[in-house]
Amino acid sequence: MQKSILILGACGQIGTELTFALREKYGNENVVASDIREGNEDIMASGPFEILDATNYEAIEDVVMHYEIEEVYLMAAMLSATAEKFPMRAWNLNMNSLFNVLNLCKEKKISRIFWPSSIAVFGPNTPKKNTPQNTIMEPSTVYGISKQSGERWCEYYFKKYGVDVRSVRYPGLISWKTLPGGGTTDYAVEIYHKALSEGAYDCFLQKDSMLPMMYMEDAIRATLNLMDNPSENLKVRSSYNLAAMNFTPEEIVRSIQKHIPDFTISYAPDFRQAIADSWPNSIDDSQARQDWGWKAEYDLEKTTEEMLKNLR
Ligand code: SER
Repeated sequence: MQKSILILGACGQIGTELTFALREKYGNENVVASDIREGNEDIMASGPFEILDATNYEAIEDVVMHYEIEEVYLMAAMLSATAEKFPMRAWNLNMNSLFNVLNLCKEKKISRIFWPSSIAVFGPNTPKKNTPQNTIMEPSTVYGISKQSGERWCEYYFKKYGVDVRSVRYPGLISWKTLPGGGTTDYAVEIYHKALSEGAYDCFLQKDSMLPMMYMEDAIRATLNLMDNPSENLKVRSSYNLAAMNFTPEEIVRSIQKHIPDFTISYAPDFRQAIADSWPNSIDDSQARQDWGWKAEYDLEKTTEEMLKNLR
């Protein structure tokens, strides 16, 4: 199957790996990567690359017309920790970029959208264990508020205008190719880098903070799978719960120590602790399993093996 794709925010943690995966699947020349600034050299060298501001409708429209784009993956966003520092900038980026792609699809200039949501849509009043697909949300972070609002708009555009937008609520994502930036779950990536470079890590969350996490390969597979499914399979047009593993800093330390016995950890929780405290411990993803056959493959031990092997 041939189609032309545009990725907004292609140089970020998810965008990088998504671009490589989509280029492998659809051919380098059919996948246009874009970001607000130049980034990953392999991304820029392996196929078309455009400097593009996701908040600029006309600029996106020009690229969409020029390359005859059918599908857009909107990966540009300000994450939870940074968004607490710059609330209005986060709101403007996260919402305006979404409206831009929703409106492009409403105007029939593109035919399908992927937009990521997050476990951050949940809040302190949400049931923490096995958080259901449909439940109390009430997010307490700027990022979470933007994602929850985004979900409502996605569902609205689907119902009202037939916009084919698809979404998952990513847990914290663990990967080695590109560092995350500005999130609360970033510790679970940094810790592997520090374990190898310094043999020690100072963690910004406390040792018993349990959060839902996922290895990037699973996240990419989920994304491609969701986008491949026929529209009628997808019952959820806000965003699907997605789960793989849940662990605390203490548990990831133990898993790393199986490979690096001398690795040490210290704990200095900062403002990100309150963000983590407001999020679920684990997620019920049975709706995604049922509707499009989702199943995670990586647990913590397998993730640790992959992370250490590749970072070495
Ligand atoms: N990983 C994100 C963050 O920590 C949540 O989606 O902000």
